[in-house]
Amino acid sequence: MSVATTEEVLVLDFGGQYSQLIARRIRECGVFAELMPATTSVEKILSRDPKALVLSGGPASVHDPGAPSFPEELLGLHMPVLGICYGMQAMAKALGGRVEVAGKGEFGRTDLFVVGDGGTLLGGLPREQTCWMSHRDSVFEAPEGFSPIASTPGSPVAALEDRERGLYGIQFHPEVVHTPFGTEVLNRFLREVAGCVEQWSPASVVAEQIAAIREQVGDSKVICGLSGGVDSSVAAKLVHEAIGDKLTCVFVDHGLMRSNEGVEVVEAFKDFGVPLVAVDAEKRFLEKLAGVTDPEAKRKIIGSEFIRVFEEEALKLADVDYLVQGTLYSDVIESGGSDHAATIKSHHNVGGLPDDLEFELVEPLRMLFKDEVRAVGTELGLPDSMVWRQPFPGPGLGIRIIGGEVNRERLDILRAADAILQEEIRAGELYRELWQSFCVLPAIRSVGVQGDGRTYAYPIVIRAVTSEDAMTADWARLPYDLLERVSSRIINEVNGVNRVALDISSKPPATIEWE
Ligand code: XMP
Repeated sequence: MSVATTEEVLVLDFGGQYSQLIARRIRECGVFAELMPATTSVEKILSRDPKALVLSGGPASVHDPGAPSFPEELLGLHMPVLGICYGMQAMAKALGGRVEVAGKGEFGRTDLFVVGDGGTLLGGLPREQTCWMSHRDSVFEAPEGFSPIASTPGSPVAALEDRERGLYGIQFHPEVVHTPFGTEVLNRFLREVAGCVEQWSPASVVAEQIAAIREQVGDSKVICGLSGGVDSSVAAKLVHEAIGDKLTCVFVDHGLMRSNEGVEVVEAFKDFGVPLVAVDAEKRFLEKLAGVTDPEAKRKIIGSEFIRVFEEEALKLADVDYLVQGTLYSDVIESGGSDHAATIKSHHNVGGLPDDLEFELVEPLRMLFKDEVRAVGTELGLPDSMVWRQPFPGPGLGIRIIGGEVNRERLDILRAADAILQEEIRAGELYRELWQSFCVLPAIRSVGVQGDGRTYAYPIVIRAVTSEDAMTADWARLPYDLLERVSSRIINEVNGVNRVALDISSKPPATIEWE
């Protein structure tokens, strides 16, 4: 996929935990950035004609025997290079600087002192500032031709530059929010050193993608599976803008959706005038799930049944050549980088579409991060309720009924409880702050007392987490009064529930979902 800009910066990735974040921050500065493995060949890098390179951080020491390397000739091409953390050390070592283990290392907030005039990156900024560090090795002597422009207690050379050759290095992480002048430093590198002048934005992808989709699919028919989630909704809307009625969306309602969710998706897309096939497949799914208690078995059944239904609909449409997928840049990176052949990501993490259903993929969001996809969604006129929807697993409520079979009675109870939680969370204006908020129904009953009689009913567990990327998560500190309202409403309004509990576990060691 090309992008709506001629200016791009390549981030050579040494495996640092913040590498993706570097690319995101550069994009936030209005310059398109893409990650590439640090081992990418010089020819390949130059064929992209980047305005600059950034060498990322990484977990290794430059002295480790198998320390990740990069094509060092890149440093002699007068192409602007910014080394960050390990990237700076790798650059310093390659050019004859002295890099050594620095005592205890520096982790977290660290005081940074500007040296000399601070050079291009730090000149005019406060002479003392804080920055975020995470390193054991330090540069003790800058290579010839470089001037040190900052130091910290543990890093004699915490930043350096060689204006002549366009080489810059910073030991600290400008991409994390705990480095207050981080964005300023990145901006200076991008604008003053690399000379970038364009203003890239997620919205600028729209026009470009519409043209690219038209070119890719020509007069062919295209199908898109809508899941109700942000990614497939934005991808579908974008493709519809490009090719109109040649796109048909298929929405498989497996009966495991949240309250009203199916109806909302179908109504919204009908309003947009998108040809849409909505399949009510609840009965099929529930028949297959009867008696199944094992979570993995549930996932597999839901996944394969979904594919079966989708396949039947695709065959009915006849002559469909293309399948739209809402693949995101983070999926692309996780599967090994932008060059890797696309693998079909099922909505359900199991299997894929069968081999005899051969589609070429249309993946208009392949280059975008989640927050950028949201910006594109808004640009395309999708309603906030769709653009800001929290992630929802493909198997839906099927993996939120725990330790027992998934059946209609339990689904209805869970849906009703979940709707109350969502309503209160939205009313408290917490919906966007939370990564996910939902209810879980353990298939056990406990004793309660209501009116004059004893009850024997299900508990509902409230799960609400904050997270950046679902890899780690913390339990959300929901206000007590909100919890009280949710609890009493669920117990009073939902038949079959007599107890509400709150999950206060972080991930790890727990996971976000219960199954
Ligand atoms: P966990 O529970 O592993 O979840 O902390 C991380 C993220 O993935 C979602 N999730 C799933 N999504 N199919 C999906 O499409 C699944 O089987 C599945 N299991 C978990 C979960 O909602 C969270 O956002």
